[in-house]
Amino acid sequence: MPRTLANAPIMILNGPNLNLLGRRQPEIYGHDTLSDIEALCAKAAAAHGGTVDFRQSNHEGELVDWIHEARLGHCGIVINPAAYSHTSVAILDALNTCDGLPVVEVHLSNIHRREEFRHHSYVSRRADGVIAGCGAQGYAFGVERVAALAGTGRAGA
Ligand code: DQA
Repeated sequence: MPRTLANAPIMILNGPNLNLLGRRQPEIYGHDTLSDIEALCAKAAAAHGGTVDFRQSNHEGELVDWIHEARLGHCGIVINPAAYSHTSVAILDALNTCDGLPVVEVHLSNIHRREEFRHHSYVSRRADGVIAGCGAQGYAFGVERVAALAGTGRAGA
């Protein structure tokens, strides 16, 4: 049976330093905390009859393990890989094991308006969609997109 919001949660993954949201460079990342963003995501998923599994780690390998979990038990992934976006082949490889699973990459800030080293993301090579510069609202857009793609066979092409 294809996984959709009706039968599996959306995995929402957050990379390093995002545990400090609200206190960390709020002029760039905003005043919302990660708990605020979790509530926003839960609300967006509930509007489609779904739930979220919302996690944050400062450790690359833990994010890889969680992507493997999503591969088998979730209907899609919304991921803000934070600094690992720009460095992690391991996270890209993990996402590439998730055949047909919708993956949306989210950045709070507009990475293309910032330093050159933030312009490239390994994760974007696998992402079905990329949202940057929309602040916390970008996560809600990510949830919307996973809801639209999950179970349709249109993701991961
Ligand atoms: C970020 C952008 C990254 O370049 C940065 O390393 C982050 C957060 C964002 O959400 O805007 O930690 O992913």
